[in-house]
Amino acid sequence: MCKKTYYITTPIYYPSANLHIGNTYTTVAADAMARYKRLKGYDVMFLTGTDEHGQKIQRIAEEKGVTPKAYVDEIVAGIKDLWKLMNISYDKFIRTTDDYHIQAVQDIFKKLYDQGDIYKSSYEGWYCTPCESFWTETQLLDGKCPDCGRPVEKAKEEAYFFKMSKYAPRLIEHIEANPDFIQPESRKNEMLNNFLKPGLQDLCVSRTSFNWGIPVTFDNEHVIYVWIDALSNYITALGYGSENSDLYTKYWPADVHLIGKDILRFHTIYWPIMLMALDIPLPKQVFGHGWLLVDGGKMSKSKGNVVDPVILVDHFGVDAVRYYLLREIPFGSDGLFTNELFIKKINSDLANDLGNLLSRTVAMVQKYFGGTIPAPTAKEAIDEELIKLALETPVKVDKAIDKLKIPEVLDAIWELVGRANKYIDETTPWILARDEEKKERLGTVLYNLVESLRFISVLVSPFLTVTSEKINYQINNDLTDWDSLASFHGTKEGTEVKKGETLFPRIDVEAKIKELEALVASSKEPEKMPMSPIKEEITIDDFDKIDMRVVKVLDCQPIKGAKKLLKLKVDLGGEERQVVSGIAQYYKPEDLIGKNVVLVANLKPVKLRGELSQGMILAAATGDDSKLFVVNPGELPSGSEVR
Ligand code: ME8
Ligand code: MG
Repeated sequence: MCKKTYYITTPIYYPSANLHIGNTYTTVAADAMARYKRLKGYDVMFLTGTDEHGQKIQRIAEEKGVTPKAYVDEIVAGIKDLWKLMNISYDKFIRTTDDYHIQAVQDIFKKLYDQGDIYKSSYEGWYCTPCESFWTETQLLDGKCPDCGRPVEKAKEEAYFFKMSKYAPRLIEHIEANPDFIQPESRKNEMLNNFLKPGLQDLCVSRTSFNWGIPVTFDNEHVIYVWIDALSNYITALGYGSENSDLYTKYWPADVHLIGKDILRFHTIYWPIMLMALDIPLPKQVFGHGWLLVDGGKMSKSKGNVVDPVILVDHFGVDAVRYYLLREIPFGSDGLFTNELFIKKINSDLANDLGNLLSRTVAMVQKYFGGTIPAPTAKEAIDEELIKLALETPVKVDKAIDKLKIPEVLDAIWELVGRANKYIDETTPWILARDEEKKERLGTVLYNLVESLRFISVLVSPFLTVTSEKINYQINNDLTDWDSLASFHGTKEGTEVKKGETLFPRIDVEAKIKELEALVASSKEPEKMPMSPIKEEITIDDFDKIDMRVVKVLDCQPIKGAKKLLKLKVDLGGEERQVVSGIAQYYKPEDLIGKNVVLVANLKPVKLRGELSQGMILAAATGDDSKLFVVNPGELPSGSEVR
């Protein structure tokens, strides 16, 4: 019999050098779903990739002086490394610069043009480069991009347009008839009420202002709008429109496009309409998850929180990171990330609850039975509650997972972890061990604990891959398939347990937070300073009034009671001058002695803190004065003019 298929996709990521922990959520969640479905026996296709065209990439590459392709090649290699680190089990990785994709997108565009769904016209509007989005005047918020709040640029160009409006009624009908199509429910209403029902405008689907994109085959001044290019990936990756479309036949329509809420409009309006126009069935579901926020705001390192997934994995292990992401973003809403919340969660759920359950159980089997798992021959009523919960957990998990309620899945598994820990307290094996007559009962208790751990190991395997393997190693379990959870008797008595490493060592919260904060502080990149406004225009004659000269610093002293000031004696080529300069925070007196600097020599003398200042030393400084350097005129003789 043919296996049931499951096709899940992540968005294809913009090639960005520093993906933060929030960015990794979509892919980690999709990976968990893919692994879960494989465990359930599905034939899974899990697609991810990169979205490599567009003006933004072209600009970055230009700034770096490399070709866009060379730039994205390097970044994409880094993204693939990141997915490896996060244990992402994708089946296919698509790059929009792949030949087969380019070819298929060109064919799609041509087909839509030939059948009249795409037409040529001209566009005037406002363009947000970071979002690659055109906006009309009325769509702007305070003159800025309504999506991201950044400045927009006026743009007018000849362009191709997609007749979105033509398909809107059909799409509204589809959304209303298929309540699962847009999930969660709240997002569905937002799309219907805010975008579809007020009326759709035709979408501008080509650009001429840059060329890093897929060319329109029949009009090569134009490149195809990056969202048309990007969204197509979900079918081109399967070979749609190519010679070999077996995968397309097998897997399409997708079971779920998993995406962040920010790109829902593209996936639930433009994408379905493209598919309708191409006469292709729509994906079964588009799921828009919430975001991971740092202290309620967007991701940044500002509050000393580490948001670099590579550093987090390095310090805490990949499963701790996966666990936090999967448990912390509630179904349909946003989650929070801080160093502290993260570390506390590791300590409580992973080190305490799960880690202790395993280490206590293995240690007791070793201590009381020489490491051999005993047979469950002396059952008591109290066992039933644990066994019943163990057998119910896969059912609960299965219910929650199909709605993508991953935190609820983990809640259910941790309920079993908690129940097993409670069972230890209830049965008090260390007391049973004192009485030789209770040996069989003790053996049964330990058997039940090992078997519970086997259940837990199978259940967590899609989410915490490494941890599941570590548990299996210690309880020496190779019965890892889903069907083995139908009976609470999978563990073979007589098997030897093996002491292994601690699953999750307990972390000293305060010390670790300090360590991480220091790490963030030392890694801060120089931030781009907002430029102060340029002063009013002057003429060359105005400028010519200023007489600037090279001078050598002969002596330099602090000024008592004036922390910011230094008193310099300078040589102006025969004439000595005294100058007071507000540079004491940046230079020690001895650093300046012997240096050449630039003096504004005809500035009217003033007294500063009782000291005469005959001129001013030129310095360059950042807008916030955090950095300052005196201007260095090189080794010219004193008195030379600066013009
Ligand atoms: O949007 N928390 O790519 P992308 C959770 N190329 N998820 C977050 C997040 C956060 N703090 N920040 C970002 C694109 N994401 C397009 C997609 S698909 C045809 C084209 C998620 O690299 C975001 O919601 O900007 C999206 O799902 C994913 O990261 C990639 O975003
Ligand atoms: Mg984005």
